[in-house]
Amino acid sequence: MNRKPNVRLPSTVTPIRYVLTLHPDLEGFLFKGDEDIHISITKPTRAITLHARDLVINYKDSYVRIGKQNFPVKGIVWNEANETATFEFEKPVPVGKAVLHLEFEGKLADSLRGFYRARYVHADKEKFLATTQFEATDARAAFPCFDEPAQKAVFDVSLVIPKHLEAISNTVPLEVTEHAGNFKRVAFAPTPKMSTYLLAFIVGEFEFIEGKTKDGVQVRIFVTPGKKHQAGFALDVAIKTLEYFNEFFGIKYPLPNLDMIGIPDFAAGAMENWGAVTYRESQLLVDDEHSSASTRQWTALTVAHELAHQWFGNLVTMEWWTHLWLNEGFASYIEYVAVDHIFPEWEIWKQFVYIDFNTALELDCLANTHPIEVTVHHPSEIGEIFDAISYHKGASVIRMLAEFLGEQAFRKGLHNYLKTHAYKNAETKDLWKAFEKASGKPVVKLMDTWITKPGYPYVQLVEGKNGCVLKQGRFFSSPVSRKNVKNTTVWGIPLSVTSNVHKNPEKIFLDKKEIPYRIPKGVEWIKFNALESTPVRVDYPSRFLEAFRTPIEKKELVPLDRLGIARDVFAFAESDQLSTVQALQLATAYRDEVDYNVWAELSTRLSEVNALFRDEIWYEKLDRFLRDLYSPLISYVGFSPRAKESHSMSLLRSLILGQAGLHKNKQVLTWIKKEFRKGVKIHADLRGVVYSLGVRHGGSKEFQTLLQRYKTEDMAEERNRLARGLSQSQNPKHINELLNLVLTKHVRLQDAPTLLGALWTNYIARPILWEFLKKDWSHFEKTYGQGGHTLDRIVLGARTFHSQKFLKDFKTFFKKHSAQGAERAVSQVIEQVESNILWLARDKKVVRRFLE
Ligand code: BES
Ligand code: ZN
Repeated sequence: MNRKPNVRLPSTVTPIRYVLTLHPDLEGFLFKGDEDIHISITKPTRAITLHARDLVINYKDSYVRIGKQNFPVKGIVWNEANETATFEFEKPVPVGKAVLHLEFEGKLADSLRGFYRARYVHADKEKFLATTQFEATDARAAFPCFDEPAQKAVFDVSLVIPKHLEAISNTVPLEVTEHAGNFKRVAFAPTPKMSTYLLAFIVGEFEFIEGKTKDGVQVRIFVTPGKKHQAGFALDVAIKTLEYFNEFFGIKYPLPNLDMIGIPDFAAGAMENWGAVTYRESQLLVDDEHSSASTRQWTALTVAHELAHQWFGNLVTMEWWTHLWLNEGFASYIEYVAVDHIFPEWEIWKQFVYIDFNTALELDCLANTHPIEVTVHHPSEIGEIFDAISYHKGASVIRMLAEFLGEQAFRKGLHNYLKTHAYKNAETKDLWKAFEKASGKPVVKLMDTWITKPGYPYVQLVEGKNGCVLKQGRFFSSPVSRKNVKNTTVWGIPLSVTSNVHKNPEKIFLDKKEIPYRIPKGVEWIKFNALESTPVRVDYPSRFLEAFRTPIEKKELVPLDRLGIARDVFAFAESDQLSTVQALQLATAYRDEVDYNVWAELSTRLSEVNALFRDEIWYEKLDRFLRDLYSPLISYVGFSPRAKESHSMSLLRSLILGQAGLHKNKQVLTWIKKEFRKGVKIHADLRGVVYSLGVRHGGSKEFQTLLQRYKTEDMAEERNRLARGLSQSQNPKHINELLNLVLTKHVRLQDAPTLLGALWTNYIARPILWEFLKKDWSHFEKTYGQGGHTLDRIVLGARTFHSQKFLKDFKTFFKKHSAQGAERAVSQVIEQVESNILWLARDKKVVRRFLE
C-alpha cells in the first residue's frame, strides 16, 4: 500500500494576493509564468513550503522581498509524495508581510488536469486551446501556490497570448495592452477572495452568445467556432437560474460577469470556477434538432449545479476536503430545486428519487462504503471521495433535512450560513448551527449519524402478539457483510406513514432500536417512508407486502411510493431478507404502470436480475418473462414522438422500446431494422435506442456504419450515443475492434470512461474488457486515478460479475497492482461480486421454478 502522508502546509505562512502572469504557447505546448505572492509570515522562517507539481522552478530567479530588502533562495527541496516545493533561504525571513517572487515553466499536456491543452477540429484543421481544471489539487500543476481550500486569497491574473486568440478568466478584463511579437497582454480584474481550486484561465479561439440577468450580470456562453447555435438553451437556463438563486439565497451573485465555456476535452462533467464555469460539451450544448430530452434535462441540472456552487462552495468553501460533501451534496440537492422552478412540467423531483437517492442507496449498502464526512489527506484519497456518497447520499440527507425543517426555516438557515461565512470557510457543524438557530429544531441530533457513520438503515415492521413494532438495523446488500459487520449505529429516522385510511401522512420519528407502532383500524395497506423522503429501506411482513398489489395496480399509491416498494423488494431479495420470487411476483403488479420514474427504477432492478441469471440454461424463460412485462406498453408509448407530449413521455418511450427490444420483442426489432437506416434523421430522443438495438441485433454492417461515424463525429452528445450503440455488439470481434480504438486518437481521453462503462453492461463484452483493462492497467491508473477521479467509475463497472472465476482473478490482479484513486472501488467490487455469487446460488432454483 502507498503511504498517505499528511499533506497540510504549515500555517505560519499564508497567502494574501497572487499577482500571476502566464504565457501559454499553443504551438510548443509549454507555458511560462511568474508570480508575486503577497504573503503574511507569523514566525521567522528559513524555509517556505508551497504546493507545486510537474513544474520547473528556477531558484536563481526566486526571492522574497520585504520592502526594499531581498532574501534570495538558496535552494529548492522537492517532495514528490506531498507535491510540495520548499524554498530555503540563506538567512531567516522575519515576521510580517512579504512578497515571494517565483518564475516557472510547465507543459500543456493532454492531461485534463492543471493547465492543459484540449483539441478540436475546425474547418478540417486540428486545433488546440489551453484551459484549466484545478479541483481538487491541480492548481499546483499550473503555478506554485498554497493549494488548500482554506488558503483563500485575491488573484490578479494576466495572460500574454497571440493577438488573434481570446482569453477568459474568472473576472472581466481590465486592460489589454500590446506585447512584443504580435502578442497582447490581457490583465483581469482582481478576483474575490477565494480558494486556488476555483481559479481558471482559458485561451483559444472562441465564439460566444450573451445575455443579461435583470440585475445586470452579463452571462456569456463560449464555444469553439461553429457551435454557438447550440448554446442558447444553456444561456437561457443560466440567466434564469442566476436570478432564481439571487432570490433563493437572499444574497446577490457578486461578480458583474458569468462566463460558461464548453471545453472539447474535459475530465469531469463541469467545474464551478467562480465566474468562469467550464463544461464538458455534452453537458452544455443543446441542438434543437439533434439533442434529446434527456440531454436538455442533464444540461439544465448541470448548469444549476455549477451555479449553486457560486454560493455554496465559492462564496463559502469547505475548510478541508473532509467536508467536500458540503459542496457537492448541497449542489446536487439544490440543482433540483432550481430546475423544478424553471421547468415545473418536468416533475424533476420524482427523478431525484430514481437518480440521486437510489444511486446513494446502491453504493452505501456495502460494508466498503464510507461516511459522508471522511478524513482524507493525499490527493488520490481526495479524488476518491467525489463519489456517489458525497454527491448523492449528501443530496439525499439534505432533502430529508429540508423536509424536516420546512421551506422557510431551511432557506433562512441557508441564508444565515452563507452570510456568516462569506469569503471564508466552514465545516458541517457550522451549517447545522445555522439551521438550528433558524428552526429551533434539534438538527445536530438528527443529522450527526447520517453524516459521520457509514451506511443507512432498514426499518422492519414486525408483527407480534401485542401489536407491531418498528425496528431498525443497518442495511447490507450482502448477507456476508450483514453477518460480519457489527452495527452499533442507531439512526434518527423521520418517517411519514401513508395508508388507505390516513387522510394526511402521519409523521413519526424512529430514534431507538425499536419502537411500538399501532396500525390504524381499517388498514388494508400501509406504506412507511411516504414519498421516499428518508434514505432507508422498509422491510414488511409478507402479508403487508402482498397487500400492496392492489393499490399498485389501481395506482392508489402515488408514483414515488410505487417506486420505493419496487426498489426495496429487489434489494431485500439480494440481501436474503426476501426471495427473488416474491420480488418478481410483485413486479407483475406493475403491468399497467405508466409512470416514467417507476419504470426507470423497476427496469434497473430487473436488469440486475437479468444479468444475474444470464448464464443459466433456462435464461430464455426470464427473457420471455421480461419481454411480456414490457411489451404491453409499446402501444402506450408508440414508435414516434407526438406533438407537445410531456417530458416524461419522451423518456418513457425510449426506456420501454429499449427494454422490450433488449428482450427481443418482434415488433420492436422490426421497427429497429427500418429505423436504423434513417441515420441522423432518426428523432433525437430515439437515436440512442435505435443505435444500441440496431447494433445488438444487427451484424457487421450496422457496427461498421456507426464506427465510421464515431470516428468523425464532432457533436459530443451524438458521439456518446454512437459509443453506447457500438458497445452493445454481441460479436467479440467488434468488441475487440472497439477496444483497440480506445488507446488511439479516435477516442478522447474524456470519452473512454463512458465507453468502458457502456461495455461493462454488455454481457459478451465484459470478460473481453476485463482482459483489456488488465493489459493496459498502468495507463488507466495514471490517466484516471492518482488524483484524477474517474478510475473508480471504471472499476465499479465490474460489479455485475457473478462468478468465482472472475472474483479470484480480480482479487489476484489487485493484490499485485495498485489502484490509486480507486482502492475503495476495488473492495466494493469484491464485496458485491461475492454477494452476487451467493444470490445466484440461493435463488436460481426457485426463480426457475417460478418462471416455469
Ligand atoms: N466540482 C465538481 C467538478 C469536479 C468533479 C472536480 C470531480 C473535481 C473532481 C462539479 O461541481 C461537479 O460536481 N460536476 C459534476 C457534474 C454535476 C452536474 C453533478 C461532474 O463533473 O460529474
Ligand atoms: Zn459539484
